[in-house]
Amino acid sequence: MNILLSGEWRGRPDPKQTGLNQEWFRVNNSGPDIPEWKSVDVPSCWNADPRYERYEGIFWYATDFDLPGEADSEIAIRFLAVNYLCRAWVNGREIGIHEGGYLPFEFNVPNERLLPGGNRLVVMAENFRSSRRIPGALFDWFNYGGIVRDVELLIRSPFRFKDARVRTSILSDGGAEITVNYQQIQTFPFSWLVTECGEPDKPIASGVIESHALDGSFEIIIPNAKLWSPETPSLYMLELKPAPGVNAENHSVRFGVREIRTFGPRIIFNGKPIKLKGDSLHEELMPYGRSIPREERFRDARDIKKLGFNALRTAHYTHDEALLDAADEIGLLVLEEIPVYWDIDYESRSVYEKAESMLRDMIARDFNHPSVIQWSVGNEVPVENEACDLFIQRLLAEARSLDETRLVTYVSSRFLIDETRKASDVCCVNCYLGWYFGDEKELAGLLTATRETAPDKPWLVTEFGACARSGFRSPKRRSKYSENRQAEFLAHYIRTINGLDWISGWFIWIYRDFKSPMRNHKYQQGFNRKGIVGVEREQKLICEMLPSLLDEKILPKSESIMKFLAPAFKKLEEFAWRFAQPMIARAAKKEYDDFFTGIK
Ligand code: GCU
Repeated sequence: MNILLSGEWRGRPDPKQTGLNQEWFRVNNSGPDIPEWKSVDVPSCWNADPRYERYEGIFWYATDFDLPGEADSEIAIRFLAVNYLCRAWVNGREIGIHEGGYLPFEFNVPNERLLPGGNRLVVMAENFRSSRRIPGALFDWFNYGGIVRDVELLIRSPFRFKDARVRTSILSDGGAEITVNYQQIQTFPFSWLVTECGEPDKPIASGVIESHALDGSFEIIIPNAKLWSPETPSLYMLELKPAPGVNAENHSVRFGVREIRTFGPRIIFNGKPIKLKGDSLHEELMPYGRSIPREERFRDARDIKKLGFNALRTAHYTHDEALLDAADEIGLLVLEEIPVYWDIDYESRSVYEKAESMLRDMIARDFNHPSVIQWSVGNEVPVENEACDLFIQRLLAEARSLDETRLVTYVSSRFLIDETRKASDVCCVNCYLGWYFGDEKELAGLLTATRETAPDKPWLVTEFGACARSGFRSPKRRSKYSENRQAEFLAHYIRTINGLDWISGWFIWIYRDFKSPMRNHKYQQGFNRKGIVGVEREQKLICEMLPSLLDEKILPKSESIMKFLAPAFKKLEEFAWRFAQPMIARAAKKEYDDFFTGIK
């Protein structure tokens, strides 16, 4: 049985870092009678509270819970995420410490620590940044601290499943072969049943497993399988039930039948080459910060799909699993990532072990989500540095050893000096040509040259974007930071990349504007504004263009001819305005723009 402990707790900041020495974790020091403990919601980010917006440090939480009388159950507390470090005590005795801000973990609570009536849970959360943490000391998003996702009390029988992973393969006769790998804490016989989600009363397949070992596997055939895809996100349910008379726990797994692999420079999805048209998303929605309600995550996934995207990159860390539930149901192909980002201490063994632990936890949590097709082990990492190259290569190998059913990659910002990308299944490159440097007209040339570093691999352009302050329109001058400039920039990138048929897809950076301490000029004012929607989800100009843009049939065009003609159209437009010929001017401008955005 799981009991949700989320709700109204007590909390207090610890700016002087005296809480441990003063033993705030003691029952007598954490009760509702002590005025310093104020009401606080769990989950929540303390930085979403204006009083603590800029506070980085330690925050203490306390709550009380009863224990239903379940003799000889195993008790644990599961935290779905605490950013960044978490220590916890029950009735004044420490139960565990965990590092990492974006994945679940649990602490076992020895029965002798528990009281039949009220028990006190005290949690210390701390979000200092450091190059020996993941992410490191500097990153382009807001460092929300706190018990940022739900907390559950787990009351469990030792006769239960620890895990069950479903692998699917599509058969030539239209059926599917399902391989179930399960782990039990203590062995017990069980039955299994597969139904289609939404049709619980129509068994598709069933069976019984005697189970004489803690780890086991079995195969299932689903005839006339309904494949999972962005267009048809069909889902099945696998239920594992203890055999009659066995006192053990049920376990269910929702899954989808789909296959992802590469073939030369192509990404093959359910047997066909696929083009990813995606955008990225940070886990942030005002006023919640990172602690976004489930229905709001479903709304983001629906809105992204409605714009015409078929893919989503969960930047730059694992989001709450609710977003993956939404992607499974709504049909988005997900590139998930651990927050190995920019500069961390790549020389450190303990930092590598933290990264590997996050990778393992991400795959363990999300293995059965059909929407997840790629694991990324890092973003914009300095692979030209030997220690980083080794760090990333080890993570890629570890990801492949944990999950041979998905593609493994990392996201690079290096063009010609990246030798590590050959070890990826898919080469992912971020490109801000024309925004941070150079001229976007050279985009096709730069990407084509970059491809030479791994010509036989599939490629994705995993980030491109331009900043636009919502409401700032500049139709004529297309000033920087205007919605018009952003729309023109993104349209050019999408059309140019679509015209390079060796590229398997792209992700706009980013869906929604997000808070970042790095973004402070007058158009940013504390936010990275490359979103195609603003902080309040207000759509920017590009959103009007996206449905048709994403639907355009682009033929690669001969750059050489248009490169020659484009300046001529520019000149013709200038002369036509000078001689008061607006019709000719507008026609010339359209030709130039069409080249500029590659529409022909
Ligand atoms: C980088 C980085 C993002 C960042 C973006 C930007 O590529 O991956 O985290 O927000 O560029 O500069 O906006």
